[in-house]
Amino acid sequence: MVAPELFLEASAIHAWYGSSHVLHGIDLAIHRGQTVGLLGRNGMGKSTLIRTLLGHVAQREGHIAVLGADLSRARPHEMARRGVAYVPEGRGVFPNLTVRENLVMAARTPAQAGRPAARGWDMARVLQTFPRLAERMGHLGSQLSGGEQQMLSIGRALMTQPELIILDEATEGLAPLIVAEIWRVIASIRDDGIATLIVDRDYRKVLAHSDHALVLQKGRVVLAGAAQDLADSAELAAFLGV
Ligand SMILES: Nc1ncnc2c1ncn2[C@@H]1O[C@H](COP(=O)(O)OP(=O)(O)OP(=O)(O)O)[C@@H](O)[C@H]1O
Ligand SMILES: [Mg+2]
Repeated sequence: MVAPELFLEASAIHAWYGSSHVLHGIDLAIHRGQTVGLLGRNGMGKSTLIRTLLGHVAQREGHIAVLGADLSRARPHEMARRGVAYVPEGRGVFPNLTVRENLVMAARTPAQAGRPAARGWDMARVLQTFPRLAERMGHLGSQLSGGEQQMLSIGRALMTQPELIILDEATEGLAPLIVAEIWRVIASIRDDGIATLIVDRDYRKVLAHSDHALVLQKGRVVLAGAAQDLADSAELAAFLGV
């Protein structure tokens, strides 16, 4: 079998908040269509790594490339243009816009996205995936439940015709039925051939849904490998404190 093409490659990533050195030389590779799980206890640098890759952390060093193009100093909108979509911790929907407006604002046609592999995620397909959103089209972002906001945030990401979706704690604080629905959608995104980088407190679910996983401890990768192998590793339990 031919290995899928390397989509995003990051090497020797460092990041700082002021004088606080948070990431200490992280390497990460995400191939096309691959799901990568990012694990680690609270405060170990998962969100910072994501935000650094996306260009949200100004004080950074290292090399970041998407399909071979050097994006080490790219701004967030440039990463978005390259097909990297972000579902942030805390969701990031526009509270003063309706569900419809939130989706329309994010929309790009496959032609606009300029990627032949774009999979044609349009409004109809997003609403089919999240029937709850279809019932809430005229509601403001601020009027939605936490679960609906999360679905809208994922729907917005899909509307950008991404090659990679980065999900930071997508199930945080949601009721079990909604959590199950979010995981179902993550699985269908994976089936669709879109790469994902997932952070979630439920490490078993992360591993079950990932091809590859890495564990961060104090801003360093301390364990990495095939998700199936990690699931059985005694070291994993030690690093996660479970
Ligand atoms: N904006 C910020 N300014 C200063 N320090 C920060 C900032 N954001 C995070 N940190 C610190 O950087 C370190 C890594 O935090 P980060 O949020 O990346 O961890 P995390 O693995 O995502 O944790 P969690 O599981 O709690 O989301 C922590 O020590 C945190 O306190
Ligand atoms: Mg975090």
